Order: sequence, then structure tokens, then C-alpha cells
Amino acid sequence: MADKKAQLIIEGAAPVELPILSGTAGPDVIDVRALTNQGVFTYDPGFMSTAACESKITFIDGDKGILMHRGYPIEQLAEKSDYLETCYALLYGELPTAEQKAEFTGLVKNHTMVHEQMKSFLNGFRRDAHPMAVMCGMVGALSAFYHDSLDNNNPQHREISAIRLIAKMPTMAAMCYKYSAGQPIMYPRNDLSYAENFLHMMFNTPCEEKKINPILAKAMDRIFILHADHEQNASTSTVRLTGSTGANPFACIAAGIAALWGPAHGGANEAVLTMLDEIGDVSNIEKFIAKAKDKNDPFKLMGFGHRVYKNFDPRAKVMKQTCDEVLSELGINDPKLELAMKLEEIARNDPYFKERNLYPNVDFYSGIILKAIGIPTSMFTVIFALARTAGWIAQWKEMYAEGYKIGRPRQIYTGYTQRDYLPLDQRK
Ligand code: CMC
Repeated sequence: MADKKAQLIIEGAAPVELPILSGTAGPDVIDVRALTNQGVFTYDPGFMSTAACESKITFIDGDKGILMHRGYPIEQLAEKSDYLETCYALLYGELPTAEQKAEFTGLVKNHTMVHEQMKSFLNGFRRDAHPMAVMCGMVGALSAFYHDSLDNNNPQHREISAIRLIAKMPTMAAMCYKYSAGQPIMYPRNDLSYAENFLHMMFNTPCEEKKINPILAKAMDRIFILHADHEQNASTSTVRLTGSTGANPFACIAAGIAALWGPAHGGANEAVLTMLDEIGDVSNIEKFIAKAKDKNDPFKLMGFGHRVYKNFDPRAKVMKQTCDEVLSELGINDPKLELAMKLEEIARNDPYFKERNLYPNVDFYSGIILKAIGIPTSMFTVIFALARTAGWIAQWKEMYAEGYKIGRPRQIYTGYTQRDYLPLDQRK
């Protein structure tokens, strides 16, 4: 893997030879591990130039707008696969055979219920708590329910934790919503598909069980597939970093959920809708576009831009198509959705956004679809977390299977050098 070498010349010292590593795709990587013996570190805030691990799960080429899981292009998975099949590929490296698929689906369905005691835990939260705050707590709390299978060095324990997480996330997400709405919690129905079951737990009540609209279930499943994994983004890196300490998988995923919550990451789908509220009317779009371009104004157009995709976000392309399908199926005539479409059109043609390659990202369209389905805005990032759990846990399992070191970045210290302690009466 390392046949080329780079040479680093540090003034006044002998040149340092650094191996250049090549993956199966993507740019070469200079292996700087030897630098620590030279008494120097690399400096890379935001990790713009740093690979922190080796992985076989997901590949992204941001310039070409490519996203592949286990080599399968996201467009093919979104069109031909379903979420549980995609989870299987993320976890085990291959698409399942028919037999493996049936077995995996059955296994996930066997674990959809959560311990009844979780309801008491949920009842401790305020009804108006943000569902992401509740999810951080609930997922972390799962570790209190499965003491018997938390040995990270045992592959079977890692396996069962992965299945439990994938199976229980929709149940817990819907529990959060029902709790905030003051409605009874709906138990999972294992005769339904993963996406249908989620919509059932969200929208049905014990008084009335409506049939799930297949177009909405398909759209939901697509949203899950498109969010299933995304290489070493902020939340996945958080899961790996937390995992590198030996923390249990539920604690690691809770940490990932916390990282995802931020508006620059998964919180963007919710932020898109909040922004549309703020813009209010098509007549205000120009004013907000001007605010987004103004460097002295912190306002950003939420749902636009991406750290890696500098051409287009391939997930957004598929999501736009699904968005059109859902809006035409539901015949929605919502002014906010019209506003979103107008905003997209104006931003796409504006030189500021064109020059900086700021295209609508996956969160722009997913927010609109989720709103059209009737999912409250505060649940949007929860749905992202639900779907991303597969990727997080696949990356966590890979880290354990391949071997790891505790993650410990270094720093450039720019604070005071040593000085003496002053007693209180001598301080100014
Ligand atoms: N609105 C206005 N200007 C923007 C935006 C935006 N949404 N995004 C980037 N810019 C500008 C930025 O000011 C900078 O301009 P200049 O070169 O004149 O200084 C230029 O574009 C490059 O931006 P950057 O901040 O260097 O890009 P980044 O890679 O550090 O940030 C980002 C990427 C996603 C954090 C950012 O584009 C952003 O905050 N977007 C809005 C939030 C959002 O939609 N996030 C969801 C990402 S997709 C889901 C996920 O994977 O988590």
C-alpha cells in the first residue's frame, strides 16, 4: 500500500521520509505518524487535510459528487435497495442474499420493542423537551439495560448491540414524538416494513390505525437510505473517538447524536424550516439572500453548501426527485414549500452561490419532504440520527475489528508560559 514516499525538510534538521499510502480510490495520503519522533506535529484545524482512520465502508468524491457504500453508488441503492438491505451492506460488506436478508430483517424485527422501564425514563422529561435532547438520554440509557452484553472485545456482544440499536431507534424516536404530543405510545408492528412501522408508530393511535401510504413509506425509506452513512463526518468521527476510549456502543451512539444535533451538521434539516419561517414570504427572499452574502451577518442559507461536496450533493439529487413525488402524491399547496422552491431557484442562479459551489444539500429537500409527510420540524434531526445509526455502528464495529488506538489530537499551545501563583490580595 505504501510504495511512494514524501520528504519533509525541516530547517536545520535532516530530511524526514514519510510513506505515501494509497487506498483503492481517492487521493494519496501522507503517513505522518513518524513525525512525533521528530518532536513536531501537524496542524490541521477542522481536519481539512487529515485522514484519521482506514475504512472500507463508504467512499465520497466531493468534486465529482460521488457517494458509494461498499462500492455501490448511492443512486442505485436509493432506487433499487431498501434501508435494511443497505444496513446489511454497511455492517457486513456485501449485499445480502435472499436468505441472509430474511434472516437479518427477522433479527431486527425481534428487537424492535424497548424495555417497558424506558417509558418511566421518558416520563422524567418535560413534555416540551427537544426530542434530540431526549434521544441523547434514551440511547445512552440503553447501556443501563444491557449490562450482560457490553463487552466490546466480544464480537457477539458488538453484533447484538448493533442489531438492538438499528431495531430500537425508530421505536424510541416515535416514543419521543408521542410523548411531546401527549398521545399514547404505539408499540412496533413487526408485520410492517421498517419504514412503514416507523410511520405507524408516529401517526397511528390505539383508536385508529390507518393504512400507511406506500408512497410516503417509500419516501421515508429513501430518506433512511440517503442518510445511512457518510464517511468520517463530525458525528461519525465523534462515535469513533468516543469508541476509541473503550466506551460502550450505546454511549458512543449517544455521543454521535449530540454531535449530529448542531445546525452545521444534522441540525440543518430543522434549521431549513426555521429559516423558511424567518423569511416568511417570497417577497423577502432577496433580503435574506443579501444577508447570506454579507460577511458581517452570521446568517447562512441553511441547507446549502457542504464541506466535501463542492459540485453537487448526490443525495440531494435523489432527494429532490422523491420530494417531487411526495408533493405531487399529497397534492400539497403549502406556501412554505412554494417559498422553499423559489429560494432554491434564486440561490441556484445567484453568482455568489455559483462561484462558491453552494448547492442545495440533502437536508434542504429532506426537510421539505418530512414537513409534507406531517413530521414536526423538531423531529427532523431525530430522523437523521435514526438513519445514521446504521453507519455509526458499522464504523464502530469496523474500528474494533481492525484494531484502534485511543484518539488523542495534539495542539499548538498559545497560552501563557510558566508564571507564579499570586495570592488573592495581590491580583489586580
Ligand atoms: N450560506 C451562505 N454562504 C455560505 C454557506 C451558506 N449556507 N455555506 C458556505 N458559505 C460561504 C462561506 O461564507 C465561504 O465564503 P467565503 O469563501 O467568501 O469566505 C464559502 O461559502 C465557503 O464556505 P466554508 O464555510 O469554508 O465551507 P465549510 O466546508 O467550512 O462549511 C458547511 C460547510 C456545510 C458547514 C456550510 O456550507 C454551512 O454552514 N451550510 C449551511 C448548513 C447546512 O446546510 N449544513 C448541512 C450539511 S449537509 C448534512 C450533513 O452532512 O451534515
